[in-house]
Amino acid sequence: MHSFNTLSILFAAACSAVTSAAPILSGVTGVVDGLPLVGGLVDTATGATSGLGLRQVSEPLAVVDDLTGELGLGDLTDLTNLDLRAAAPQSVAVIFTTVQTEITPLTEQLTYLTAANATVATITPIIGQIKTSLTTATTSLQALVGQQVSVILAPVEGTVTLAVSDVATLVGGVLTLLLTAVGAVLKVFVGDVKAGVLPLLTDLGCTIAALLKIVLSLVSGLLALLLPILAPVLSIVASLGATGLLSILSL
Ligand SMILES: *[C@@H]1O[C@H](CO)[C@@H](O)[C@H](O)[C@H]1NC(C)=O
Repeated sequence: MHSFNTLSILFAAACSAVTSAAPILSGVTGVVDGLPLVGGLVDTATGATSGLGLRQVSEPLAVVDDLTGELGLGDLTDLTNLDLRAAAPQSVAVIFTTVQTEITPLTEQLTYLTAANATVATITPIIGQIKTSLTTATTSLQALVGQQVSVILAPVEGTVTLAVSDVATLVGGVLTLLLTAVGAVLKVFVGDVKAGVLPLLTDLGCTIAALLKIVLSLVSGLLALLLPILAPVLSIVASLGATGLLSILSL
């Protein structure tokens, strides 16, 4: 347990840029999730002084549509596609299920790299896509800060709130996919080429750390249940030693 704590602290310490970017991302989410803002814009545009009820918003959205160009708000039209009733933020389970679906084919490509296709050019876009998925998830998780446990632990389907052990299985599965892929990349790249790969993995490590940090803060008791699940991956990490993940962690 101690070693994993150390690991996550080191990840966090090496990733200050990622952490400091978080409030900005959080702000962006706030705008998208803060559906009342749609009402606010319509309100201003039509000069109405009273607040709009959600039922009224569906019609005036056309106005928002028209104003988009004028206000220079770019993709604001996307808001017209949102279900206004679905204002509750995505739960941890929904977010991690999405991540798992998105990254599974990508981590598989990395896990089964061969000497023939293990090039920096091959893996760069794959790692980039993984990072995009994880960064989106981290932003979504930030929207859960301060929410009730019933929202944070809401199931993907149905109404039964997840147990922390369910979350551990899900999060542990995602982290296992990621770290297994990282381990495979470190193993297949040798010699001079390896130096070109390490910055990519360091960067991915920071993205993983940011994701891990926020989910641990959202779900109390998660770490203890996560550790047994991660044990096989941690031994891979440990066996990589100073030339592997430790150097990614700038040790
Ligand atoms: C590399 O080749 C192996 C074997 O054909 C394959 O399983 C893997 O997905 C490939 N990876 C990439 C990144 O192309």
